Amino acid sequence: MFTQNLLSLAVAASTAFAAPHSPITARAEPKCPIVFDGRVPVDTAPTFFDTYATNTIFNPDYVKGNDLKWSGILKFPDASSRFDGEEYTAVEVTISDQSIFQQQNGFRRAGLQFLRDSPDGPGGKGVKTLHWSVKQDPGRPLNLTHEYLNVWHETADYSANQIQFQTGTLIGKSGADKNNFKVLDRNGNSLYSVPMDMTMWQNFAAKLDFNRNQVTIYYSTGMSELKLVAGPQYVNLAGGGQYQIGILKKPTGTSDVVNGGYQERNLDEGQIYGGLFLEDSADGCVSL
Ligand SMILES: *[C@@H]1O[C@H](CO)[C@@H](O)[C@H](O)[C@H]1NC(C)=O
Repeated sequence: MFTQNLLSLAVAASTAFAAPHSPITARAEPKCPIVFDGRVPVDTAPTFFDTYATNTIFNPDYVKGNDLKWSGILKFPDASSRFDGEEYTAVEVTISDQSIFQQQNGFRRAGLQFLRDSPDGPGGKGVKTLHWSVKQDPGRPLNLTHEYLNVWHETADYSANQIQFQTGTLIGKSGADKNNFKVLDRNGNSLYSVPMDMTMWQNFAAKLDFNRNQVTIYYSTGMSELKLVAGPQYVNLAGGGQYQIGILKKPTGTSDVVNGGYQERNLDEGQIYGGLFLEDSADGCVSL
């Protein structure tokens, strides 16, 4: 890690020296201390994700269909995002009719949790920046008639999500564009919104200042450098908890989304992720 940081500093310095005024559009190394690394090394065997004996990246037991293994849920498209470099690869989270977690018959869901994340752990304290890049799979499109929860931080008591990255039709919110990615606070207030891009990588980062209850959102497409697009703004970040990254598809036509409602049969949907990591921004550092 230390060597990697020195190397990335050297690379950043030489890049800046070579072209001080042009935007950086190349792949990038995270430049701040990594707290949780969810990047998937190239050529990782799918079965790596199935057990604690092998999976050093994500929790192998959660959150997924009761009868499924991660090796069946995850796909590995030949792609990599801005912070994946040559060493890491994209990972696609998919859902099917079997994506029923515990007794939650209303949802179809598969969500990655960082292996070392815990409800009272470092992920919900201090100042941290969560990075995620997304790309759409034309072979496994999301159905934007439904509401999707894709990336979030859920309080330790499971009563709320302090921050949530969503797409599709938000239930009870007719004003929100179903074709947009939306970053919302726990009350559903919009912090940032941008149209889904069906071809390019979309790179997001959320700086979460748990001390001051402030959120700052950064965004770019393709290999471009992240830019500040919203905040810092007040968001209630109290409650600790854990991150989750994947797909939670809500049903239509019910007020009991956990248990009831309508889900189509023969689902085959996916969301491609890359560049997943949480970095420490206590000293103001954010990888752009
Ligand atoms: C999208 O979802 C709605 C509601 O479940 C369903 O009626 C419709 O057929 C779906 N569309 C596609 C293209 O799957």
